[in-house]
Parts: sequence; structure tokens; C-alpha cells
Amino acid sequence: MIDAGRNARIIFFIGRRSVSSDPNITMTTILDRLFSIGPVRKTIWRLWYPFLTRRIRSEGVLFLNYAFQTEPSVDLQLLPEDEPNRACIQLYHHVASQAELLGKQVLEVSCGHGGGASWITRTMQPASYTGLDLNPAGIQFCQRHHHVPGLTFKQGDAQNLPFPDQSFDAVINVEASHCYPDFPGFLSEVARVLRPGGYFLYADFRFRQSIPGWESAINAAPLKVVRTRDIGNEVLRGMDLNAQRSRNLIRERLPGFLQSLGNDFAGVPGSRIYSALQTGELSYRSWCFQKS
Ligand SMILES: C[S@@+](CC[C@H](N)C(=O)[O-])C[C@H]1O[C@@H](n2cnc3c(N)ncnc32)[C@H](O)[C@@H]1O
Repeated sequence: MIDAGRNARIIFFIGRRSVSSDPNITMTTILDRLFSIGPVRKTIWRLWYPFLTRRIRSEGVLFLNYAFQTEPSVDLQLLPEDEPNRACIQLYHHVASQAELLGKQVLEVSCGHGGGASWITRTMQPASYTGLDLNPAGIQFCQRHHHVPGLTFKQGDAQNLPFPDQSFDAVINVEASHCYPDFPGFLSEVARVLRPGGYFLYADFRFRQSIPGWESAINAAPLKVVRTRDIGNEVLRGMDLNAQRSRNLIRERLPGFLQSLGNDFAGVPGSRIYSALQTGELSYRSWCFQKS
């Protein structure tokens, strides 16, 4: 059972700016060092996301991604209730529309608060759609919030998928694999649960120093690359579109000492993540893979 008070104390410790008297050692450099240790990274995300869900669930936040906007924009027809999430839905549309999902059995790994799972199930009409996430509070939120025929949610780990071999026609993964300590292990799991001919539809980012490891894991995976694209500019435009909403949410829902971390997490213009994407220090890409 996750202890919310303990989580808050650990996140408080991580979020504090005065963690060292050496001005060269900032919260960000300490976080970077901690994140480079696989099991520590998993622990941080395991604590951060349930904490975040508890903080923002009353606001009905359905998406946790940086969003996507093309230039000129795609005329995606949305229901009025989906309109506030247009920019985040556009990232899901970009990823999921790379393969036909009608009548298919689809798994989404790291579905977050389930906004993408609900939108894809309602609009692309797969036979079934399973949303999986490590965050138990997030899965509970999804189960309470999304009631769509064919859509179910399950708690579980991307690196140890709780499904038999060859059980899905497509696997979707949006902006989450940077959290996994064992990315090659995740790719093997995706290949294991996909049926022959099935698709892996994927998007995520990496900082420059992690790109060689990212690419070599992808090249070694038992999956064929059908298409890949750098979508950094589209994601920057998505961050711009969501900027005011993200700033309001951070100001209202996060304590002061976590607001700078929150700005980074949400990719608010001026944050470290936003600047890194602008300068090319961070690369954001999408892929369509097929299992042969
Ligand atoms: C940035 S959020 C993206 C969520 C969602 N895809 C979206 O776009 O709204 C990353 C998600 O990855 C999940 N996650 C982190 N580590 C995981 C793991 N080992 N297994 C499954 N999910 C994980 C987190 O709980 C979080 O929901």
C-alpha cells in the first residue's frame, strides 16, 4: 500500500531547492544523477505519479502529455467535451492513427489518467482497449471516470506485462518510456504480447546523452520500423497551446516548493524541458513498428 504522507515527504525532499550549499549542485543536477540509477528512477516515478494524481484528480485532468500541434493544424473533429484537451488528443491522434485499429484488440501501456484510452476507444472503435499503468491511484481514477464499452483498465508494470504471449493486435505507448529503467526489457515485452503483423505505435523523448542507448535498444528490438519522425516542433507548439492551463494548474494545485519541478514536468514555456526541446538538447520522436 502506498503511504501518501511518506510520498509527500520524499517528493518534498526531492523538490527542495536548498538541498546543497554548493550553488553548482542544484535540484535539477541531483535529480539528473538520481534518474540515471535505474531502480531509483522507478522509485521516483512510482512515488511522483500517485502524488500527482491525488493533487490534480479533482480538476478532472485526463492527459499527462506535452501535447502536439501541426502547422497548419489538422482539422480533427472533436465532441464539445473533448475540446479542452484538443492539443493532448492531437498527440494521441498522431500516434494511434499510424495503424488501423477498427475491430482490433489494443493495449495501451502507461495510460496515465485514461484520456487517450477513452478518446481512441470512442473514435477508432477497437474491439477492445486495455489501459495499463503502474500508478494505482491513476488506474482507480480511470475506472471511476471512463465508462466506455470495450474499455478496461489494469494496474501493472510496462517491463513485466501481465498478459499472455500474442494477445494484442496493437500496443500504444505515449510519452512514458523515459520512466522505465529497463527500456530494452519493455520492447521485448511489447514484442511478446503482440500478434505477428501487430503494430507498436510509440512516441517519447530523450535528452541528448540518452539518445545512443535509446536508438541501440530500438535497433536491437524484434520489431520492424515502418515509420519514424522527429516531432519536436509539433510538441513545442502543443506546449505553447497548453501553457496557460498548465501554469494555472501548477499554481493552484502544487505547493510552492514543487512549482518549478511542476513547470518542467508540464513543459511550460521557459522551463528546462521546453528550452531543451527548442535547442535540440531534447529529442521528441514518434514511431510505427510492426512485428513480423
Ligand atoms: C507522462 S505520463 C503519460 C501518461 C499518458 N500516456 C498520457 O499521455 O496522458 C507517464 C505515465 O507512465 C506511467 N509509468 C511510469 N513508469 C511505469 C511503468 N514501469 N509501468 C507502467 N507505467 C509506468 C506513469 O504512472 C504515468 O502515468
